[in-house]
Amino acid sequence: MVAYCLFYLFHLFSICVAGKDTVVKSQDILIREYNQEDYDRITELWRNARLPFRPEGRDSPVKINGQIKDATTIILVAESEGRIVGAVLGAHDGRKGWVNRLVVDTGFRRKNVARRLIAELESRFETIGLEVIACLIDVKNTVSMEVFKRLGYEQSDVKYFSKRKSWNS
Ligand SMILES: CC(C)(COP(=O)(O)OP(=O)(O)OC[C@H]1O[C@@H](n2cnc3c(N)ncnc32)[C@H](O)[C@@H]1OP(=O)(O)O)[C@@H](O)C(=O)NCCC(=O)NCCS
Repeated sequence: MVAYCLFYLFHLFSICVAGKDTVVKSQDILIREYNQEDYDRITELWRNARLPFRPEGRDSPVKINGQIKDATTIILVAESEGRIVGAVLGAHDGRKGWVNRLVVDTGFRRKNVARRLIAELESRFETIGLEVIACLIDVKNTVSMEVFKRLGYEQSDVKYFSKRKSWNS
């Protein structure tokens, strides 16, 4: 009887450990800063997700790679087994931090990759003393709205106005 109980307890313990391993594996995502070699992959993710992307203009390699030298821009990527599976572009004006172009590969969605990218970006914004973090979301992007609500963001009823030098700006 005692042997049976010990065997049963060991069995339960194995299940727990295996379960824990699975969780660790699913979270086996590295969040790191973007570097120039990542350009093709992050633009592929943006393109696949149909995010506004202007490769001839503000999103050209020269512009994006130039921005990382600028202290007001933070580009983070999420990497799984050497492959980039998510990205976010943060920018700030000294007062407010902006979350732009958040994207996660379709095969990695709903695994907290966006949550982790945003947490890292928020932590960097907080380190430089920013107290407001914001993002603009297309009114048709209901998924993104839900995600940001889940991440603690509140919606404001504002209309976005802009003036561009060209379509590519
Ligand atoms: C928006 C996007 C980045 C979310 O990435 P993700 O890694 O799947 O999100 P997470 O797994 O980190 O989820 C964060 C929270 O949002 C919720 N969530 C994620 N996808 C959701 C969905 N489709 N519907 C409802 N809630 C969702 C999660 O449940 C989680 O909340 P919880 O922890 O309270 O359960 C991803 O769907 C995407 O790349 N979409 C296309 C690009 C895009 O629209 N980007 C936003 C531009 S503003």
